[in-house]
Amino acid sequence: MNEEEFFEVLKKHNQEHVIRQYELASDEKKAFLISQVANMNFEEIEELYSLTQSFRGFDNFNIEPINAQDAEALSEEEKNELIKIGEDIIKNKKVAIIMMAGGQGTRLGHYGPKGTFDFGLPNHKTIFETYVDQFKIAKEKYGVAVPWYIMTSRENNNSTVEFFKNNNYFGYEEGIKTFFSQSELPMLDEDGKLILDENGLIKEAANGHGGVFEALVKNGILQELQDSGIEWVFTCGVDNVLAPMVDPLLLGYSKKNNYMATSISCIKENPDEKVGMLCYKDGRPSVVEYTELTDDLRYAKKENGELLLSEAHIMMNLFNCDVILGISKEKLPYHVAHKKCNMMDREGNVHVPENPNAYKFETFIFDAFERLDKMGVLRYKREDCFAPIKNATGNDSPETARKLYLAKHGMN
Ligand code: UD1
Repeated sequence: MNEEEFFEVLKKHNQEHVIRQYELASDEKKAFLISQVANMNFEEIEELYSLTQSFRGFDNFNIEPINAQDAEALSEEEKNELIKIGEDIIKNKKVAIIMMAGGQGTRLGHYGPKGTFDFGLPNHKTIFETYVDQFKIAKEKYGVAVPWYIMTSRENNNSTVEFFKNNNYFGYEEGIKTFFSQSELPMLDEDGKLILDENGLIKEAANGHGGVFEALVKNGILQELQDSGIEWVFTCGVDNVLAPMVDPLLLGYSKKNNYMATSISCIKENPDEKVGMLCYKDGRPSVVEYTELTDDLRYAKKENGELLLSEAHIMMNLFNCDVILGISKEKLPYHVAHKKCNMMDREGNVHVPENPNAYKFETFIFDAFERLDKMGVLRYKREDCFAPIKNATGNDSPETARKLYLAKHGMN
């Protein structure tokens, strides 16, 4: 894109304020602004803005509870059979792990990728290193270095790669396949204008973990997985230090039941817990995110007094590779978040808002469930699988995660 085309596109889409900043910018920033605009799809941006004006709440859908298989309710015999199926999948090198690690640890007061956070274990292992430990144990047990792919964002890719390199991949170089970045989308102000950040550049943000499907295809990873005979991918977030990386029961359960996807759940602790809820939405498997749950649904109870929606979605999902290509071909729906964002005005002054002033657009991995006719839900005991690190103190903090981690793994 040349300068003339840059001006033309911005004028056509009523974004002339960017031109004003461009005129004030250094040559380097000018080139960056042009590259940003060249990569933008303005029709999509206009559609995204129209979403902010018309959110379709969940009360417009028929939401029903989903059935889960409680792992505790399986007999020893059933469990052993499923584990045996899963172990064969692992030993035959048919599973890979995709970790979605696009986020920063800012909420924890940690200025780096969340996985590089030391959450206070006596041995001071970082979050990433605890996962490496699990992979090493699996390697010992099954004789296979289960491949691990790490999705980063533009913001944290270099620092994530550096971190692993500087630590010699914690002795798991053979298993850590690659780091790949998800795409970004521009944020918009309340009038649908592109936002200029503190540096006078267009403010863009990671497009949500739903971007993983597109990123797997775009970066050639899905092809690589299929070429190497991988049939299953386990996708998880970076911040749950009890996430089971290599889980034969989950694999066996999905395979035996012919599920193309299975989500691990645990029972929601209380109606206000900040977790998405697995459910059926108009008859299809789905998740109602906590930010979008209406109070009616949040507190609704069954006749027996239990919460109507009780299976928490805890960001651990197994997908069969066969469905991933199909999912990646059609865009997932966008969700809008209203956020606070520093903005540069026409005169080059930076405004720090007190209230939300900007829209961020994200797709969520779990919206892919609606593309499936059925899926599995395997419920584990919370203390076995869920110790998220989200907040600096209080719930879901380093302190709570540390306690849960030590209770499960001991001091090593
Ligand atoms: C998330 C889930 C919620 C679930 C809860 C369990 C969403 C929207 N909701 O909430 O249903 O119950 O975890 O802990 O995710 N990430 C990326 N790229 C992105 C955005 C996020 O890789 O663009 C990664 C983060 O690094 C993190 C994970 O996805 O590992 C979850 O994202 P986060 O923003 O922490 O979601 P929560 O609000 O905690």
